[in-house]
Amino acid sequence: MTTSTPTIFYAANVFTSQTRTSQKNVQQTIKNAAIVVENGMITWLGIESDLPEQMKNECKTENEYRFTTGWLTTGLIDCHTHLIYGGNRSGEFKQRLEGVAYKEIARQGGGILSTVKATRQETEDELFDSALKRLHQLRSEGVTCLEIKSGYGLELDAEIKMLKVARKLAVYTGLDIKTTCLAAHAVPEEYKDRADDYIDYVCDQILPEASQQNLVDAVDGFCENIGFNTKQISRVFDKAMELGLPVKLHAEQLSNQHGASLAAKYSALSVDHLEYLDEDGVSALKVSGTVAVLLPGAFYTLRETQKPPIEQLRKYQVPIAIATDSNPGSSPCNSLLLMLNMACTLFQLTVDEALMAVTTNAAKALGLEATHGQIQVGMNADFVHWDVKEVDELCYYFGTNPCTKIFKNGEPLKE
Ligand code: NIG
Ligand code: FE
Repeated sequence: MTTSTPTIFYAANVFTSQTRTSQKNVQQTIKNAAIVVENGMITWLGIESDLPEQMKNECKTENEYRFTTGWLTTGLIDCHTHLIYGGNRSGEFKQRLEGVAYKEIARQGGGILSTVKATRQETEDELFDSALKRLHQLRSEGVTCLEIKSGYGLELDAEIKMLKVARKLAVYTGLDIKTTCLAAHAVPEEYKDRADDYIDYVCDQILPEASQQNLVDAVDGFCENIGFNTKQISRVFDKAMELGLPVKLHAEQLSNQHGASLAAKYSALSVDHLEYLDEDGVSALKVSGTVAVLLPGAFYTLRETQKPPIEQLRKYQVPIAIATDSNPGSSPCNSLLLMLNMACTLFQLTVDEALMAVTTNAAKALGLEATHGQIQVGMNADFVHWDVKEVDELCYYFGTNPCTKIFKNGEPLKE
């Protein structure tokens, strides 16, 4: 961004996503708002009638946007995706409909490992093309920032290939993409019954190389009885610390392995899934300031009946985020709006909680809270305009997309 000519956004209704608890001057909604943007950043925010004349005059008419109806929000953030993968698992979907459990399919060498096989076979270009289609679907619903995990390579070259594709998607689309190395996702076939040896390989080769090539922003793992135990995960996290990388964890999805408490000890950015999280785990998250990421798409697909402990998360004021978990197994879904609806209907999140969960709290789950997730002075000018009468409608509808216009760093997003 070279120009310093300001752009002004006038909007009948703005949902700022500012956190209510943060003292004075918190305005979660603003009517008849004006937002001044310079060099891609918000420099003034308030009611149009309070906008200083001088600012108004500095702005050329071609640098003005006026939304007389609808709502403006910050760009949505999908803080947990496995967007890059080869093939799909519709065959396993049919098996599950016939009553075979997700865990059972995984134990038979299907599940994650079948996607590993397909992903290893595809070229970087092939993976890029299919992931781009999914990214376009997310973006069409106002997603301007997202996280993409590796974890379907499970060998050095294939993990690097996935992470390179994620970096290329960011350059190509202009969206903000955080990459996460999830090499500790499953034990690959060639390490069958040698999980500890595989963890050695992850720590000695995959993580250092990915980090060396500047391909990774965070490190994740799957802590589960069909994944890795806490001892193995802590070795991965120790390596991440050594490399100066923050951590996250797939935790308490299918059983309580106390992964969340372990992740909290490493000041994890987020722990994700959490259906089997207990109160000790919740209180550990409170202490570490870790975000609880809920993934209603996986809950729904696996026909889980145990809900994440929402009441306890509220009681301990743990920030809650929601994400698609877009992946070919447990959540073949590229709609963050649908996740908003599901989080409300399936987990009884309030509309306000759900909106904060895909903005402010999702930014925090990616370590981006200083620049993303709110319409506030000093933050990135990422905006979405929605054709709705009330902002609540973003959670209320499903299978409907009221997004009309997207701005990234104050500029309209190119198609
Ligand atoms: O977030 N839980 C583990 N990993 C993914 C699922 C991956 C898959 O089934 O391919 C998840 O649900
Ligand atoms: Fe996941």
